[in-house]
Order: sequence, then C-alpha cells, then structure tokens
Amino acid sequence: MSRESGRFTVLHVSDVHATDDCSLYGAVDGLERLERVGEYARATGITPEAVIITGDLVQRGNPGAYPAVAAACRALSEAVAAPVLTVLGNHDDPLASRVLPGHETSHRGVSLVDGMRIVRLDSRTGALGGEQLDWLADVLGEPAPTGTIVALHHAPLGSPLPTLSRQGLADAEQFLAVLSGSDTRAVLAGHFHHSLAATAAGIPVLVGPSLAYHQVMDAGPDHVAGHDAPAFSLVQFTSLGVSAAEVSLSAHEPLFNEPVRSPPSLPRIPSVSPLTTTLHSTESQ
Ligand SMILES: [Fe+2]
Repeated sequence: MSRESGRFTVLHVSDVHATDDCSLYGAVDGLERLERVGEYARATGITPEAVIITGDLVQRGNPGAYPAVAAACRALSEAVAAPVLTVLGNHDDPLASRVLPGHETSHRGVSLVDGMRIVRLDSRTGALGGEQLDWLADVLGEPAPTGTIVALHHAPLGSPLPTLSRQGLADAEQFLAVLSGSDTRAVLAGHFHHSLAATAAGIPVLVGPSLAYHQVMDAGPDHVAGHDAPAFSLVQFTSLGVSAAEVSLSAHEPLFNEPVRSPPSLPRIPSVSPLTTTLHSTESQ
C-alpha cells in the first residue's frame, strides 16, 4: 500500500518481553506476537518500508531468548519485505543481545531506507550519555534526502501516569538540544506500555504501545498493572507530516461489520520528499 500511495510507513513495535519459555506471566508469547504483526501486514495489504522495535526485546533475566528473537525478527523482515530495526531497552542484556541483526558490534546505528534515515540509539541505562550524544550530533550534521527518524527506548518526556512520570530519558534536555535544527521528523520510543503522542522542542514524539501487555491506566498512584492487550503502532510519514494509529492484536468480536457503500474519494497524498521539492511543486501548480 504505502509505496504506491506515497507514504513512508513504519510498523512501530515495542516492548516484546520475550522469555526463555515463551510464557511471560504464564500467558504471553512475544515471538508468536511478532509473527502476528507480519500476518497483520499481509492480511491488510500494508507494505511497510520498515519495522522499528523500540526496546525490551526480552524480559529481564531471559538472555537465552535472544536467538529466538533474532530468528523472529528475520522471519518478520521476510514476511513484510522490509528491514526490522531494533534498539535495546532497560530489560535488555547488552552481551546476549549481540546475536540480534544489527547489534553484532554496536547497539546503535544508522540505516537509510528509501531516502529516510533511521537512527537507532542505545538508552538501556535510562540515558544516552555525552559520547553517544556527540555521535548523534555528528550523524545529524548532514541532512538525509527525506529526513530522519530517531528510535530509542526512553522517550524524552515522562508518561502522564503518576507511576511513570519520571520514566523518561534522564538526559532528555541534552538529547533535544542535539535534535534541534536537524532534519528529525519524529522520535519513536517505547517503555511506557501505553501509546502517547506528544511534541518535545517542537519535534513529534510517538511512544508505541507494548506487544506484551498494556499498562492498566487506572491502577492507582502506587501500583503498576498490565492488561493482556497486545498492540503496535502504524506510523506514516507524508510531506504533510506524521501520523500514528494504534493497532490492537486482541481478538475482540466486531460490534458490526458491513460493506462500505460509498467509498470517499480521497486526494492522493503527495509522496515524501524534501521540503524544498514540495515547495517547488506547489509553486508550479
Ligand atoms: Fe517494557
């Protein structure tokens, strides 16, 4: 869908929390859920340009799960015919995770996909640190053809939930200072186990929901609880901006299901292109 429609589409997956026995809390198999993301894309005809998984690939203390997660990422990449790019979260093991594609020598990196630069950062300690921020500034020094997506586990702001309000990136201010003035089009993050759309220093920040469990939003000021409600996010970039739609993998029975009688005719969304090109084409009309 997306290449034909001019959108740059990302399947934004987060917080898989795979375990050695494929049964987190006796119920959740993260590997099976990764497979279902690929099935969703196949069933809906969506052809993403990339899959980005923003950390907590395994549940802490399950380093033996990484080889199976690596295999699941390769299978998902094959299923959707797009790269699967991963970053580490606070549950991840920096040594055992070396078996993941793209993590053999470093837990950060840069990929160029159809003109979009995707930068992966390592915030598993809760912060990025000066050395990594210097590296990021260096990477962003030159703009990419259609802009940059920055992916990391910790968002540069807190959750509105009291229990998670201090769970944002510890050096958020320094991070946002590096992004300021760059071609960054959005920051993708995870960690909260609930989706959140925000701006920080004028940059869209999209926190994806968790594939493992969803935060109970009314658990109270001193409790953390989880629903078995897996979801991921469908993020789309156009020359007009960026959108994120949460996609639930829970199998609720539909309240109704009927054919669309008069499909609205929507104008074709202009393809992703540098701002200068867009302005030029607008002026020529
Ligand atoms: Fe998590």
